[in-house]
Amino acid sequence: MKKTDEFLIVIFGASGDLTHRKLLPSIYSLYCQNLLPKSWAILGVGRKEWDDTIFRDHFKTHYKNENPHCNQLSSIDQFNSHLYFLSMDSALENEYPKLTSTLLDIQTKNQLPENYLFYLSTPPILYSLIPKHLASQNLNNEINGWKRIIIEKPFGYDLKSAKQLNQDLLNHYHEHQIYRIDHYLGKETVQNLLVFRFANEFFEPLWNKNYIDYIEVTASESLGIENRGGYYDASGALRDMVQNHLFQLLAMVTMEAPAQFDSRSVRNETLKVFQSIRPLNENIEENVVLGQYTSSKIKSENINAYREEDGVPSNSRTETYAALKLFIDNRRWNGIPFYIRTGKRLPTRVSEVVIHFRKTPYSLLGFGSEQNTTHNQLVLRIQPDEGILLKFGLKVPGSGFNVQTVDMNFHYNKMTNTYIPSAYERLILDCIMGDATLYSRGDAVEACWDLIDPILKWKEKEATLYGYPAGSWGPTEADKLLENDGFEWRFPCKNLTEDGLYCEL
Ligand code: BG6
Repeated sequence: MKKTDEFLIVIFGASGDLTHRKLLPSIYSLYCQNLLPKSWAILGVGRKEWDDTIFRDHFKTHYKNENPHCNQLSSIDQFNSHLYFLSMDSALENEYPKLTSTLLDIQTKNQLPENYLFYLSTPPILYSLIPKHLASQNLNNEINGWKRIIIEKPFGYDLKSAKQLNQDLLNHYHEHQIYRIDHYLGKETVQNLLVFRFANEFFEPLWNKNYIDYIEVTASESLGIENRGGYYDASGALRDMVQNHLFQLLAMVTMEAPAQFDSRSVRNETLKVFQSIRPLNENIEENVVLGQYTSSKIKSENINAYREEDGVPSNSRTETYAALKLFIDNRRWNGIPFYIRTGKRLPTRVSEVVIHFRKTPYSLLGFGSEQNTTHNQLVLRIQPDEGILLKFGLKVPGSGFNVQTVDMNFHYNKMTNTYIPSAYERLILDCIMGDATLYSRGDAVEACWDLIDPILKWKEKEATLYGYPAGSWGPTEADKLLENDGFEWRFPCKNLTEDGLYCEL
């Protein structure tokens, strides 16, 4: 693989959880795989009174070695020698000359070019300020090397604030310099959705309204909101999962083949999907179900209701579950319903896409009759037990022509010598290489907010919020969303091939 340019990463929010749980371990993994160039450096920036030694020690002490590539004890010290720390308040413009001179020192010491990646692992309130202050130091200028910015979601709170944020970023950086991370796109199994579709000829001819009845996209979580009550209560499932991860998944499943496999063409196609989704301006209550988990007992453990979680008001009306029925008004998908759902405190952690093919068109010698029809299903499992499952009808041996549904499946863990990189590992490497294909573009982010905005308004004014016991599959109203159309959800278990209302927990 081609080695990357030499670079310097500046992580804002470097003493925070994300840096030590995801960012540094991912870069360390790239280092262990020999994917980094000879010279590189990371400058952590934060308000804590840390120095290089504390920053390095903190990483070493908290690093959980689960990576097969990083098994040499000495390598963490070698990696750490590339780390630096600068204590500063990144909200204040007058602190930035200090940043510039530190960058110059590190650059000279390590003989680095002016290739800078600024990673904003900070509260969103700083997303507009930091780029502005960097630009005041000319740290957006690409004459002597590239300058890129990675930002984490939330990219705004609604359409208006998302537009404002994009404008603030574009005031100082060009779109090609801005990398908006959606960690779902960094997942190997999500990228495989495109390969599965476009590298295999046998499914693509069937991938349309003529052969497909409906499609489900599920991202369920068994955990609650952990310690994020403050953030989550102002967000809810629509903003936290639907506007970004679920819409991106939907686009991967439904987009047209890009003209080329590059960031422009691929992202043009995803944008077209978002623009073709029929806006939910009317009859929202017939197409959207919102829920919030109530207390219950799982495996003799008492589980708190959402309203009892830390940081959540006791009268909160924030949704921890959302199910939507959508249509994509284009030639390929016109008239086919898409059902997407996500929720906290559901029975199991599963993300998957289920393609339900149409029934056989007529009944021949009994098969095809109601009791004998099979509904071919293709399950594309994102996580866990990553793999692909195809369900099809087979003749039951013996007299007559009775049909039984059987499974054919592939599991990633059956591939030998295959290391699945973490989403952050993949995405950070792509950014260093200048490849934004798996990052969200500003126009697509706005298009997704455009779809979510009317639902948010409805939610604030008149939506019904249904309770569901923690550990159940959400409000029964969400089942009716499909039942009214003669369909049903698949209730997935943690093992790809199992499903049903009751899974092993
Ligand atoms: C994050 C959300 O973006 O994605 C979290 O903020 C959610 O609330 C998480 O738990 C889910 O990601 P994953 O990779 O565990 O499916």
